[in-house]
Amino acid sequence: FNIVDAQYVASAVKFDQYPEGELTEIAFIGRSNVGKSSLINSLCRRHGLARISSTPGKTQTLNFYRLSAKTGDFRHDFFLVDLPGYGYARTGRSARQEWSKFIQEYWLKSTRLVLVCQLIDIRHPPMASDVKVYEWLTTHNLPVQVVATKADKIAKGRIKSHLEIIRKEIKLTAAANPIIAFSAENGQGRAEILDVIRNILLK
Ligand code: GTP
Ligand code: MG
Repeated sequence: FNIVDAQYVASAVKFDQYPEGELTEIAFIGRSNVGKSSLINSLCRRHGLARISSTPGKTQTLNFYRLSAKTGDFRHDFFLVDLPGYGYARTGRSARQEWSKFIQEYWLKSTRLVLVCQLIDIRHPPMASDVKVYEWLTTHNLPVQVVATKADKIAKGRIKSHLEIIRKEIKLTAAANPIIAFSAENGQGRAEILDVIRNILLK
């Protein structure tokens, strides 16, 4: 399973700006600065595709990237959707409500969404907002793959126990895939995430 092409297609803050077409979508959600845009670049092996920044709040719109993947003779086109982070409070209260409105509109109106990757920083126990978002996604029956990011920042021997803390705190559902430890720095977990995507696309 190989990504053979990746291109930025559109940015949107409301429904009528979503790109047209019938392509399935895979979305990336997580707190600001958790590494959503970096993960997208790593999957595509394209450094500047999604803009990243050490300052939280970099991504402010829904950004759609069109990917082509190949397995043998089989070719599949789909969208990756990069979302603004939650839990970041530079903007005022009304702007935050505005933000959550357009994100919720996306969850509720996108009929082509087949997977949500929820990213959580592996270094710390999940925040209340992480727990809430996971609960919200699962109660709305969205399929979720949890990814623990920045795995290069902790010692290898501690990864397992950190994943276990995340699993317990968010109350990972019994049927869910195990949490994947990922690093955009060294590519750890990239193949596992691509495998999950492949299995969903082949369904
Ligand atoms: P917003 O768009 O603000 O919501 O952030 P984001 O979740 O898209 O995060 P982004 O990919 O912009 O990364 C934020 C910062 O974390 C950048 O400085 C990245 O270089 C760094 N970063 C992301 N992933 C990793 C990782 O796996 N390892 C390390 N060491 N740093 C990472
Ligand atoms: Mg981003």
